Parts: sequence; structure tokens; C-alpha cells
Amino acid sequence: MPNPPPKVIIDNEEITVLQAQLGQWDNLNHLLICKKTRDAVIVDPFDGKYWHDVCKINDWNLGSAWLTHSHWDHTKGVEETQQIGGDNFKIFIHQKEGERGWEGPHTDLFTCAEMTHEKVEVGKLIFEAHCTPGHTPGHTTFIGNGLIISGDCLFLGRCGRCDLFGGDEGKQRQTLRYLKGILTTVDPDSIVLPGHQYALEDGTLPTTMDVETLLLSNSALLAVDDDRKWNSLDFLAFDDSMAEKARRQTAKRS
Ligand SMILES: [Fe+2]
Repeated sequence: MPNPPPKVIIDNEEITVLQAQLGQWDNLNHLLICKKTRDAVIVDPFDGKYWHDVCKINDWNLGSAWLTHSHWDHTKGVEETQQIGGDNFKIFIHQKEGERGWEGPHTDLFTCAEMTHEKVEVGKLIFEAHCTPGHTPGHTTFIGNGLIISGDCLFLGRCGRCDLFGGDEGKQRQTLRYLKGILTTVDPDSIVLPGHQYALEDGTLPTTMDVETLLLSNSALLAVDDDRKWNSLDFLAFDDSMAEKARRQTAKRS
């Protein structure tokens, strides 16, 4: 098994979900497998060979990649994933990521309007691909089968930054209102899978959280309907020098 081995998040009759943190940016990659057909999709691959190896060992057919957005750390492995996967390999991303200059490989574009969704499938499993702009113009959140795969739109303790090229704080707030509406209607035991492992305020480092807990504790979702709280959120823009320092410290430790 590739190193580090992926963590099993769900394994039932319908679906297997694996998660691995890959690279120096704390990226979380998610592999979804339809148990009936053995078809698999990788969301935001950081390392193509890693996920093809995982699928080969388990006799799963890795036929597509879904991208939450086009930032480098979420797409680094996509070319390699396609090369190993061959001519029929599919890559899905929202067309609005073109607004920030994304010219990377893709075979299929999501075209749904902001804060609406369209269908996307792996094997017999059906997911909703929701256009959730704010972090980037065409950021996509995948919802279905007891999962919310939220990329850099919504982390477990807070939301993603909006100050990079193509980011939009107003849209991020609209998106969070939209997602909050959806999250209050799904099974509260549904699992949120974010794009990065970031520490919560209490210092813990979970990589998954149930929707019920997230709705009660996520500082961005709690602030979204309150101007004073929203305007006091300090992470909508990010201190890059602090982030760089933290990365250097992590690299030194490893
Ligand atoms: Fe990002």
C-alpha cells in the first residue's frame, strides 16, 4: 500500500470513502468507490500515482477526477492521474474556473449557475456538484451519499480565504448561506470532508466532522447572518508570512 496509507472514512454496501493527507500544504484527497461497479473517482488528486496504486491493489477502476477548484495544491496530481488513467480518463471542473485562468486538463465542465447544482456520477452513485463561489469563481462542493466534500469553501472550523485572485468575499458569504440551508436539511450524521486539515480553535486536528457538530461550531456559518460577527472574522484574508512560517516549521519537524 502506498505511504502513508489512506484512512477509511466510510465502508458500507454502497460506498467506500478513503482519505489521505498528501504534500506540505495539508491537502486532503478523497477517493470515492462505488461498491457495486468498483468504479472510483479521486477528488483533488495531489499525487496521481499514489491513487492509481491504491486502486490497482484493490482492483478498483479509477476512471475520473473531480476538482473542487483550480488552485495548484488541489490540481497538482491531475495530469499524472490522467496520464496513468489513459485516453478514457475523465476530469471534471466548473467552467467558471476559467475566469482565474485555469488552462489545465479537463474533459468535462460543470456549467451550473452559481449556487445551483448538477448531477455527477461514479458507477451507480449519484452526487450533486454545487457551484459554491467565493474562494474561487467556480469552486464546487460535492454532496450526496452521506458526504459533503467541501474543498476550500468550507473547512471544519471556519471557511476558506477570499483574498486570492478570483476570490470574492460577498459571494463567499452568499455561498455559506446557501450551504447552511442545505446542511440543515441533510442527515445530521452526514460527514463533511474539507480540502485541508487545519487545527480547530481548541488545537485538535480532525479531518472529518458530522454536519450536526459543524452547524453548531463552525465560526463562519455561525457568523453568516450577523454583520458584526462576519466583519470580525479574521481569516477571510490570510497572513501569508505567517502561513509560510508555519510551513517552514512543519518542514523542519518532518
Ligand atoms: Fe484553494
